[in-house]
Amino acid sequence: MYPLFLIGFMGSGKSTIGKSFSERYQCSFVDTDVYIESKYRMEIPKIFAKYGEDTFRKYEGEVLKEVLLFDIIATGGGIVERNENIQFMAQNGTIVYLHTTYREIDRRLQGDTSRPLWVNSDRATKRALYKRRHKLYEQCAHKIIYTDGQSVEQIVQKLANKYPFNDHNKH
Ligand code: S3P
Repeated sequence: MYPLFLIGFMGSGKSTIGKSFSERYQCSFVDTDVYIESKYRMEIPKIFAKYGEDTFRKYEGEVLKEVLLFDIIATGGGIVERNENIQFMAQNGTIVYLHTTYREIDRRLQGDTSRPLWVNSDRATKRALYKRRHKLYEQCAHKIIYTDGQSVEQIVQKLANKYPFNDHNKH
């Protein structure tokens, strides 16, 4: 059952929820974006600018395989861009989709400068990306948690109810 892979669009709260869950239930947590930044000693916007999205995706795919021993894994929004990543998560843990509506994402990411695929896209492109990704998240998830209007505590509680963290279900 564990690890839990948290997937969802940029701004859906994967890192916040993962961190909060791990603090509350005393389990280990990693954010693949943070891991990439420390492994390659470069911030994500810089990786995109210097080497392009393909290279970032390659790093992301490699890192996914290196973080398997963590209990909660917050992935980047584009983890589903590679089918092999989906297969890997499905075979090695449980996939939880944190669903947030486009409207709410748009509100949360106002003024955000850390996400190249959001900052550098026009409205139609962002919407199309959201729509395409939503289908991918939905298809591969074992569980969907709707986050609009929910507090961090409420979402963590829902996750814990469905996937209680204890010695029996650890990987
Ligand atoms: C990306 C999402 C980002 C980060 C990178 C690419 C994406 O992570 O991995 O900017 O393609 O959706 P978050 O989902 O944590 O914002």
